[in-house]
Amino acid sequence: MTVRSDVRTEGSPVIPTQVVAIDGPSGAGKSTVARQLAAKLGFGFLDTGAMYRAITWHFLQEGCAPAECAGDPDRGLARMRQALAGAKLELVSGAVVCNGRDVTAHLRTREVESQVSAVSALPFVREAMRDLQRAVAVAGPVVAEGRDMGSVVFPQARWKVFLDAAPSERARRRCQDFARQGRVVSESDVLEEILVRDRLDSTRSDAPLRQAPDALYLDSTGMVTETVVAMLLKFVRAGAAASGAS
Ligand code: DC
Repeated sequence: MTVRSDVRTEGSPVIPTQVVAIDGPSGAGKSTVARQLAAKLGFGFLDTGAMYRAITWHFLQEGCAPAECAGDPDRGLARMRQALAGAKLELVSGAVVCNGRDVTAHLRTREVESQVSAVSALPFVREAMRDLQRAVAVAGPVVAEGRDMGSVVFPQARWKVFLDAAPSERARRRCQDFARQGRVVSESDVLEEILVRDRLDSTRSDAPLRQAPDALYLDSTGMVTETVVAMLLKFVRAGAAASGAS
């Protein structure tokens, strides 16, 4: 799957429906579950958090990330707009490529982590990402995970899920991810970061993290990934059968 930021769905944008939209807070396990579900269904996988992280990385490279522009916010916004216009984002079989460079390994660094909530709160960034996300889903069915998939980007998605878990469990899972990457981080620090991110993501004015009214709510606390994937597979297949699709 390849999409470039110069792909635009201007005019009368097509809003795709063959989408499993999975939203939820940080560390709820969305990426792992969505990736496995997509593989089982033969759908594409759209990790929209990775897209926001890649743009944040690009702003950092350009020296115009929000924290760097705090002294002159108007000029900062103009520089971010310019940097966004010059960004060519590609999603190529699990990797995120920005202006020809594979940036996947940089997406979870502390620098990116510390700026991504502020970047993802910017309406002009969200608008560009939304158009790209729709352009990907126009090309074929996808499992898309993020914060606003069912509420804003794909309001007519055939399947919507809000995946949640207790904050302490989300912090524990994140620590395990970090440990796999060789990073030692205390669970209480991660919990604190998660709670800050939850607050920022849920209180921003543009597309805050919110459960779509027609989404299935699933609390995965205490469940292993396989159980969650199996439940969602059943949910998707039941929906497909109910509407007569194969
Ligand atoms: O899911 P994640 O941790 O990779 O997301 C990184 C950040 O991007 C997080 O602060 C929320 C934001 N995000 C968003 O605002 N909308 C999305 N659809 C996906 C992520």
